[in-house]
Amino acid sequence: MKSAAVLQSLCVLLLHLVGTRALVREYVLNITDSYLKPDGIYRDGYLINGTDPGPSLFADEGDTLRVTVYNNLPVEVSVHFHGIFQKESPWADGPAGVTQRPIKTGDSFVYEFTTEGQYGYYWYHAHYRNYLQDGVRGTLYVRPKDTHRRPYRQITNSEDEILEILELEKNPYNLVLNDWYKWDADAVLARESDLGIDPTCFQSILINGKGRVTCHSNETLIANAGPTRLANGTPRYDSFGCADSSSRYPDLNNDAAETPGHSSQCVNTYSDREIFYVNGSKWMMFNVVNAGASFNLPLSIDGHDMYVIMVEGSYIKPQKVKQLTVILASRYTILVKTDKTSGVYNIRAASSNTGQILEGLAFLSYDSNITQPGDNNNGEQYQNIGGILLNSTYEVFNDTSAYPYDRGVRAPRGRADKTIDLYSDRLTYVTYTLLESNATFPVAAEIATPLLFRNDFSDLPYVVDQDIKVGDVVDIIINNSEDNDHPLHLHGHSYFVISQSEDQHFPYANIEKAINAGYPINFDTAPQRDTYMIAKGGHLVLRYIANNPGVWLFHCHINAHMMGGMMIAIVEDISAVKRLMARKDMSWIEGVGL
Ligand SMILES: *[C@@H]1O[C@H](CO)[C@@H](O)[C@H](O)[C@H]1NC(C)=O
Ligand SMILES: *[C@@H]1O[C@H](CO)[C@@H](O)[C@H](O)[C@H]1NC(C)=O
Ligand SMILES: *[C@@H]1O[C@H](CO)[C@@H](O)[C@H](O)[C@H]1NC(C)=O
Ligand SMILES: *[C@@H]1O[C@H](CO)[C@@H](O)[C@H](O)[C@H]1NC(C)=O
Ligand SMILES: *[C@@H]1O[C@H](CO)[C@@H](O)[C@H](O)[C@H]1NC(C)=O
Ligand SMILES: *[C@@H]1O[C@H](CO)[C@@H](O)[C@H](O)[C@H]1NC(C)=O
Ligand SMILES: *[C@@H]1O[C@H](CO)[C@@H](O)[C@H](O)[C@H]1NC(C)=O
Ligand SMILES: *[C@@H]1O[C@H](CO)[C@@H](O)[C@H](O)[C@H]1NC(C)=O
Ligand SMILES: *[C@@H]1O[C@H](CO)[C@@H](O)[C@H](O)[C@H]1NC(C)=O
Repeated sequence: MKSAAVLQSLCVLLLHLVGTRALVREYVLNITDSYLKPDGIYRDGYLINGTDPGPSLFADEGDTLRVTVYNNLPVEVSVHFHGIFQKESPWADGPAGVTQRPIKTGDSFVYEFTTEGQYGYYWYHAHYRNYLQDGVRGTLYVRPKDTHRRPYRQITNSEDEILEILELEKNPYNLVLNDWYKWDADAVLARESDLGIDPTCFQSILINGKGRVTCHSNETLIANAGPTRLANGTPRYDSFGCADSSSRYPDLNNDAAETPGHSSQCVNTYSDREIFYVNGSKWMMFNVVNAGASFNLPLSIDGHDMYVIMVEGSYIKPQKVKQLTVILASRYTILVKTDKTSGVYNIRAASSNTGQILEGLAFLSYDSNITQPGDNNNGEQYQNIGGILLNSTYEVFNDTSAYPYDRGVRAPRGRADKTIDLYSDRLTYVTYTLLESNATFPVAAEIATPLLFRNDFSDLPYVVDQDIKVGDVVDIIINNSEDNDHPLHLHGHSYFVISQSEDQHFPYANIEKAINAGYPINFDTAPQRDTYMIAKGGHLVLRYIANNPGVWLFHCHINAHMMGGMMIAIVEDISAVKRLMARKDMSWIEGVGL
């Protein structure tokens, strides 16, 4: 008996070892252009393997991914794996002009990287021009190792349900949200650069690449606008829900100020929307990403609470909420208790931007015989078409209190080795900076020699080179002097948000001075993110450990702002990068034009 038990546990151990052996997973992505109508209206767009969003990639934590991207577009492109550290593979990060040349039409590029030390939901998208918003995007889910502490006992005591949830973890549903323009990215960019207009109006909100155009009356729009949008008087809305931008840009004439979508030509469409069927399981798990160009998107499911359990690669203490504002480019994993018996329930994603009232719908259906429901379905509605909560007592997700559930994952305490001082400001309608010098990241830099292959950056004002060495604790301090909120994304790392304010600048030159003055710094419960909002007039202090030699972008993820210059590159131990390159055969990368 005893030896049988020993043998059995040996077998389990062996199975475990075999089962968790890291694989190399090969994926091929083929980017093509197409004439498509995801919301019922035709336009040109870019697809990966024929779809937007493109294929959902999977890995088990620790696997290596080798992703070959074929560019069959009429334009150049490159692909960034958002949130992936690219440890010891900084040349696979993707941004054109930073880590590679854009991939030419007809060429291909191989992105090879490990997922060791990372789990959860990521996404990939174009990082050249704004082609992500034309459809060059998809998701990557890294299944967590068994060793991570799960938070599920915080939401149920039932062992059966916990087993069910652990099973769901293997293959969660995708909930990919994005705003969708009626014009392609190059046309929008031309309006920005030629007319000086920040294009804030969209045509629809898509969920898993599906949606409809829904036109509203002026009265409906005003009734759903909410207090913030009405704070400066009643805006004039077009039937797409776009606020007339001539009131915001009084010195531009109306024709010039017309932003995409801003017209009276709105026509309702009736194209298919995404439907998720409840198949008898007690819970459903969704990976949620805002893969759009501009808007943060408040999300809710009529009649259903959402339990947010993971944010950008960390389990968190679950938050039971009626609304989750899905920040642009951010990822969240939610559990939904599917405890109804029949009916269809609306999944709503809406714009909370002051510039537009816009909603997209998908459905959660308990009836397997329903194919395309109408808009009026079951359950209590928590938010309106403007993303406004219908009852102020409803709980909403709080990014500030969402810190890693794993007690071992905490911000390093004390002073920093390097402090990068930034400030964000808008210089014209369409140019933005992150630097005191007001330097901007030029569009032309995307086609220059990639920064990673340079040694000296002193002539490039948009590159921050503070001689960061491996092991340094780095703080990025940003005062937002601007009238917009911005989702700020760092490549190559996640950071801890150790100080933040919605209305005050950080009053010290560095954290050491702040600590000495008794200013509260959040080392113990700091959120760990790679994308986080800075509020207008507020500040952030973001701390990370320099453990990844490379040249890493830090930028606003609103496409118009990024192309408007709100981006810097941070050099991390360039001599270590050169040593990495010397160990590697880089001839394949030279093949794409270096
Ligand atoms: C994408 O399409 C190519 C063929 O063009 C195919 O070989 C590949 O397996 C597809 N990739 C995925 C992830 O489905
Ligand atoms: C990519 O798709 C295009 C259009 O379907 C096709 O002609 C081409 O052969 C594909 N390329 C690869 C590498 O699969
Ligand atoms: C829109 O509706 C508001 C509120 O009912 C009203 O004050 C305004 O005059 C209307 N505007 C137009 C252009 O119809
Ligand atoms: C129900 O869906 C879950 C995924 O959410 C899946 O794991 C399970 O196998 C499905 N069950 C049936 C009976 O189809
Ligand atoms: C679907 O099935 C339910 C339950 O059997 C029934 O009540 C409903 O009428 C059906 N709906 C349609 C569209 O067939
Ligand atoms: C909001 O919710 C509270 C608590 O459930 C309830 O008492 C109140 O009547 C609700 N208000 C509205 C306007 O529905
Ligand atoms: C969000 O969480 C932070 C930190 O716990 C807390 O200070 C703040 O009051 C919370 N915000 C809301 C709206 O509850
Ligand atoms: C942020 O603003 C405060 C107050 O205006 C100033 O004292 C501080 O030096 C600024 N910090 C940075 C990094 O610009
Ligand atoms: C940067 O721009 C701001 C706002 O336009 C201006 O106040 C400031 O003087 C400029 N700074 C430099 C160094 O040019």
